[in-house]
Amino acid sequence: MLRALRQNGPAVSLQANWLSPGERGLDDLQVEKENDHSLLAFLHLSERAAATRFAVYHDVLAIDPETRAVFGEILKDEAFHMNYTHKQLKRIEPRRYATRLWLARMSRMWKAYLRLSVAVAGVFGAVFLLVQYFVLLPVFAFLAKRAARSEPEGWTAADARPHSMRSQYR
Ligand SMILES: [Fe+2]
Repeated sequence: MLRALRQNGPAVSLQANWLSPGERGLDDLQVEKENDHSLLAFLHLSERAAATRFAVYHDVLAIDPETRAVFGEILKDEAFHMNYTHKQLKRIEPRRYATRLWLARMSRMWKAYLRLSVAVAGVFGAVFLLVQYFVLLPVFAFLAKRAARSEPEGWTAADARPHSMRSQYR
């Protein structure tokens, strides 16, 4: 399947993994801290996202019918998982399941915002450090060299006046 992809299409090497949520970092799911309804809402949204992605994979793989068929089978599974988790959430929270889903969506949006903020902060940090290194550091290096030229070379005699034993400033 991969061989067929390589032969029929251009190699795309862009991987935007930091954009996609997964069970790591902010999105690491700690099952013991969740309750049944929040877990089911989380699972439903995850299964829904997976089904959406596999539908896209299925749609774009016209050049590789074999892989397309595999993604079609996985899509059926994901659709079943999505419907099952929704049904179970409705069963245990018949009146508040919509609120649970809304809260889970807000949580995902908040995490997406945090991921984006971290990425933007990383870019700003890199730019700031590059500017410091290539713009500010040469100025300080120039000033330090100029100041070094006015300093006497070698050892200099210590101050001959007596020093106080109570203060470092005489
Ligand atoms: Fe699934």
